[in-house]
Amino acid sequence: MKIYNIALIGFGGVNRALAELIATKNPLWERDLGFSLNIVAVSDLYLGSVISPNGLDAKTLVEANFEKGGFGGLSGGSAEADNETIIKTAPADIIVEATYTNPADGQPAVSHCRWALNSGKHVVTTNKGPVAIAAQELKALAEANGVHFEYEGSVMSGTPVIRMAEKTLAGAEVKGFEGILNGTSNFVLGRMENGLDFASAVAEAQALGYAEADPTADVEGLDVRLKVVILANELLGANLKPEDVSCHGISKLSPSDIQAAAKANGRWKLIGSAVRNADGTISCSVAPKQLPLGHPLAGVNGATNAVSLNTELLGSVTVTGPGAGRIETAYALLSDIVAIHNAPSPNFAKEAA
Ligand SMILES: NC(=O)c1ccc[n+]([C@@H]2O[C@H](COP(=O)([O-])OP(=O)(O)OC[C@H]3O[C@@H](n4cnc5c(N)ncnc54)[C@H](OP(=O)(O)O)[C@@H]3O)[C@@H](O)[C@H]2O)c1
Repeated sequence: MKIYNIALIGFGGVNRALAELIATKNPLWERDLGFSLNIVAVSDLYLGSVISPNGLDAKTLVEANFEKGGFGGLSGGSAEADNETIIKTAPADIIVEATYTNPADGQPAVSHCRWALNSGKHVVTTNKGPVAIAAQELKALAEANGVHFEYEGSVMSGTPVIRMAEKTLAGAEVKGFEGILNGTSNFVLGRMENGLDFASAVAEAQALGYAEADPTADVEGLDVRLKVVILANELLGANLKPEDVSCHGISKLSPSDIQAAAKANGRWKLIGSAVRNADGTISCSVAPKQLPLGHPLAGVNGATNAVSLNTELLGSVTVTGPGAGRIETAYALLSDIVAIHNAPSPNFAKEAA
């Protein structure tokens, strides 16, 4: 039975949820998946960093109420988040990157991924920044070092879209996609349909924990734009940067726009889309669109996400599910580790060739 040693970079909602799962589900994973996970290091801006070659107790990590710099009090600990040392020297097979998403240049997460891959360690991440901005470089680095760079959770949290399109639908020829890729804006649009104005709907989303104190990235489409870049580059072979995608959010939609759509048997949704044109170019956008009620995305309500993949051989295939959530996103990390575990070894590929 395989034990993967993992190092957690960032110990906020997602990586803490992964530790919670490890604390309770390792026996199940041993039985069903053929491996278990052992946390050998953690680094977090607030808590500091710690390396423990034999493994840290996941339950203690989750339940101890560490103060700022609290990892400094542990054996092998420091009050500082020394990411570079942790990533390069911790005896980890896999680096789990779940720090904050920087939409401008992906840093410092891009560096975290580079350090890990150059050290011969696999990377799994839910962070959109390095994937939207540096996926090509990081995938090449992974290949050169014989390791994996996996990022299923960067688009729809634990709801599978990248691996579904690439593995399950291999050969179906994805020609384009359109998706509801931000739960906050979808929730806000739903509440506006129920009669709230934009500001009140955003305030409600904030009160329920769906929207950040600054909701700009969600309601102005900036979060969706990163996801469109990730999907278009991954599924359509594009080479887009975020600034290549035109981006309009939902803040300019008025209650009368919403009512007019309802009268016309339609509904506004914030749609991120990309399509490969006949000449091979890729057209993509983020914009509110009025969908007819029969459209596969029109019935996706609340904070749920969905993507319709337009394929040559199957037509439209829609996957829908949570697009956020601590445990849901930690599941994406597990699914990445399952993919690493199940990948044929390079030696096997050579023997088969
Ligand atoms: N939560 C979701 O539903 C979800 C879904 C999909 C994708 N994601 C992505 O997954 C990543 C993690 O999300 P999350 O919800 O866990 O975020 P979070 O709760 O804000 O946690 C991020 C943690 O990383 C720490 N951190 C920030 N910069 C760091 C650095 N340079 N070195 C070490 N630690 C650092 C933060 O410390 P401080 O608090 O001190 O800054 C925080 O503890 C983000 O990129 C997010 O966009 C999240």
